[in-house]
Amino acid sequence: MRGPQVEPAVGLPDEVRIYEVGSRDGLQNEPTVVPAAVKAEFIRRLAAAGLPVIETTSFVPPSWVPQLSDAAEVLELLGPDGLGRNRPVLVPNERGLDRALAAGVQAVAIFGSATETFAQKNLNRSVADSVEMFRPVVERSRAAGLWVRGYVSMCFGDPWEGDVPVAQVVDVARRLVDLGVEELSLGDTIGVATTGHVHRLLEALDRAGIGVSTLAVHFHDTYGQALANTLAALADGVRVVDSSAGGLGGCPYAKSATGNLATEDLVWGLHGAGVRTGVDLESLVETSAWMAAALGRPSAARVVRALAPPIG
Ligand code: HMG
Ligand code: MG
Repeated sequence: MRGPQVEPAVGLPDEVRIYEVGSRDGLQNEPTVVPAAVKAEFIRRLAAAGLPVIETTSFVPPSWVPQLSDAAEVLELLGPDGLGRNRPVLVPNERGLDRALAAGVQAVAIFGSATETFAQKNLNRSVADSVEMFRPVVERSRAAGLWVRGYVSMCFGDPWEGDVPVAQVVDVARRLVDLGVEELSLGDTIGVATTGHVHRLLEALDRAGIGVSTLAVHFHDTYGQALANTLAALADGVRVVDSSAGGLGGCPYAKSATGNLATEDLVWGLHGAGVRTGVDLESLVETSAWMAAALGRPSAARVVRALAPPIG
């Protein structure tokens, strides 16, 4: 299978850690519920393709996200391969943490919002109350030796509130970091960010004492800016990038949220620029082509379409 011609780029790092969210952010948004056995096979194939971190699923109420109501079953099917500090799951509250711990999970992610409207829609409470919901989750997780990530959604724009002031994002980020999260992922939930905005936010976070070594970036690709924004964040020193195999993804509680940055498009861009990821592009493309066939529609990822065009 063809790969990019490698010509090292100025200003990019030697290595990037890809945080794969296809099995969580991707499958939470599917119109149909993908069977647990297919989810487990997807995660196995992603791991075999060399993805170093895979966010496997979510322990949220089945009434909120029925697509991932089989979280425990998926982890059971995976056995030890589905557990460990590089297999985080989404957990909103203590009930979710109890379920995750019972499944043997060793890494969790809480998910806050930079805006009040999305906090209400996605978490059924205010920003302040959601921070209080997360507090015991982070405390208990850290005490149990789990790795803890935090997300801030709507960092670059909100479908109901419009523009989101940088200072407001920094304020919520500070509150989540103060809870004790080890990594903070900046979510462009509806894919509206542009490169200057990314730089401004990273600069403001740095001034607030949240440096790039704590940060990851999470761009949805609604407006086609996700890869450009990611490269801008890397040039500013970020080293962890969220992406989704095949460009699956979206948030059922955010109108106009489409798929994440496709992992294949990211890997093509990084490998061509001489940046190591540890991912085998060919087996990743084969995985996304297999998943697209399972979902019954062509992959959204440009690189998958170019390298493994759908038959017929
Ligand atoms: P609520 O309705 O206020 O919760 O929802 P509650 O505490 O009142 O509980 C309601 C019922 O659910 C109770 O059961 C609880 O026991 C049960 P009942 O007494 O009625 O029988 N319950 C649970 N059951 C299983 N697992 C649990 C759990 N918690 C309560 N964990 C809540 C509040 C936070 C739970 C809800 O709003 C929620 O789960 N929201 C999450 C929605 C979601 O998953 N959204 C997508 C992920 S975020 C995202 O995609 C963005 C991201 O990718 C970054 C980006 O792109 O920006 C991360
Ligand atoms: Mg997302």
